[in-house]
Amino acid sequence: MIKMAVNLCKLFVCGLLFIYSMISCGTSPGKLLMDHQENGETVIRISNPTRFLLLPIEENAAEARVYIDHKETYPVPMNIRLAVNRIDYYVPLQLPENAGPLVITINSVSSQAVCWEKMALSETFDDSNREKFRPLYHFSPAYGWMNDPNGLVYLDGEYHLFYQYNPYGSVWGNMHWGHAVSKDLVRWEHLPVAIAPDELGTVFSGNCIIDKENTAGFGKDAMIAYYTSAGEKQTQSIAYSTDQGRTFTKYDKNPVVTADIPDFRDPNVFYYEPTGKWIMVIAAGQEVQFFSSSDLLHWEYESSFGEGYGNHGGVWECPDLLQLPVNGDPNQKKWVLLLNINPGGIFGGSATQYFTGDFDGRQFTCESAPETEKWMDWGKDHYATITWSNAPQGRAIAIAWMSNWQYANQVPTLQFRSANSVPREISLFTKENETYLINQPVPELKSLRKESHSLQAFTVNKSYNIDQITENNTGSYELEVSFTNGSAGIMGMTLFNSKGESVDLYYDLSEKKFCMDRTKSGLTQFSPDFPAVTYAPVEKQNTYTLRIFVDNCSIECFDGDGKFVMTNLVFPDEPYNRINFYSKGGAFEIGSLDIYTLDTY
Ligand code: FRU
Repeated sequence: MIKMAVNLCKLFVCGLLFIYSMISCGTSPGKLLMDHQENGETVIRISNPTRFLLLPIEENAAEARVYIDHKETYPVPMNIRLAVNRIDYYVPLQLPENAGPLVITINSVSSQAVCWEKMALSETFDDSNREKFRPLYHFSPAYGWMNDPNGLVYLDGEYHLFYQYNPYGSVWGNMHWGHAVSKDLVRWEHLPVAIAPDELGTVFSGNCIIDKENTAGFGKDAMIAYYTSAGEKQTQSIAYSTDQGRTFTKYDKNPVVTADIPDFRDPNVFYYEPTGKWIMVIAAGQEVQFFSSSDLLHWEYESSFGEGYGNHGGVWECPDLLQLPVNGDPNQKKWVLLLNINPGGIFGGSATQYFTGDFDGRQFTCESAPETEKWMDWGKDHYATITWSNAPQGRAIAIAWMSNWQYANQVPTLQFRSANSVPREISLFTKENETYLINQPVPELKSLRKESHSLQAFTVNKSYNIDQITENNTGSYELEVSFTNGSAGIMGMTLFNSKGESVDLYYDLSEKKFCMDRTKSGLTQFSPDFPAVTYAPVEKQNTYTLRIFVDNCSIECFDGDGKFVMTNLVFPDEPYNRINFYSKGGAFEIGSLDIYTLDTY
């Protein structure tokens, strides 16, 4: 009897303590139980996990270490900027399914921080677009941070796009491989995260191949991802998928390539037919290293390239080596080494340089003089370019991250950060004993054209205004325009809006340049490196054509023959809805102007 009374008393006291702890910590009863401990840790107990725990984020808060007590799903903690003073947005932490009660431990966030009260369990997370700068037809993550495209590979009718992804905030960190697929390169379906960090490190850039002969032993047609495990050292690891990229298993003997240098990353693997070997190119400091393998698992060092060649203003990253036809002749091919460099880019910060030459299965030989610099894109926002592996009909399709490390973390978006360039088909042309890249927008982009509006030829003598680019202008459109020179020194075209924000695009014929000036384009002051005028060399010719892709926060100008492309971000307060054509030093002719609204998502 006495025992029973004591037990009842204990139960009562426990109940009181439980209710007290819930009231004092402001939690939702029975679900989130928070305990701010004296050592600065907060322990969250979730008795009944839902699909997500919604986390309030403040971009400028310090990163807190978040340990989720479920090693299978979260072998390592995540670094999350939990809101202390104000909430910028929410991100969902996915809770393991059927895992029973969960414990989450968070380091060093004050018990007074605003995040505790607003953290909530939920079965849903609303990722519908809330921001005007989100592009319509350029790929961007549904939420969170994205940088480099990774693992581009085609399989069974699908183009796979993996990408450097932080699902826990819109600034760089916690690198995962995000994932999307498309049947036509322009309409994308978001898929769950493909590869997540583990004890070897976070998951940096790399590529995928299709193992058609089951060389590695993971299965016929296995999709094999090569990526950098970025831990204390940077090493190269493997994960494979036998279900069309829907789930990946990490190779149990990772890492497969190691080195004693700090910058050793971004593996890119391809099959070299003449020797029947697989080749891996790795960015190593300011050079690239080539490795070969017969089984896709064991790799042997072959050679290095880079010392004394091209631009060395920064670290070399994300290499890709491929063979491309020259001057449209499929029987005449050269090897091209795409190489991304940061900083050191032609207009500051990040950019894609490339080398042309020969590869014999062991070594790359550059055909140009060592001091030659070749740039793939003449804007500020085109980086980490790589190409699709196993693309149908041998197509060479490249895509880039449309940003620059100088300000990528500061651009004025919050729900998401960064988009990719439009996919481009690449090939080569020769000019004065040099070989250069041709970049053309993939033909699939034309399938996005919705409404069109064409103008007849007109002469530009000083100034000619078009007051409305399209009727319901959402800020996403394409312009195809041809300029024929009469006597002008400058043939220009300004896109602008009712707020007076403008982007100036012009041919400076005496300087033989095409230029884009975004100094007055809208929001520019978030970084001193953002306002800029970029330029590309052009040859003298009678008629110049341009395809201009505008998509809320970006402008890509393609020379009609693909001899240059220029990609720049812009952040106008409202869409550019007007055009002013202007000439200086004479007149010129606009032969045709076609305006298309583009659509997707
Ligand atoms: C290039 C890069 C890569 C690296 C990745 C990390 O932008 O620095 O070299 O793998 O980003 O996110």
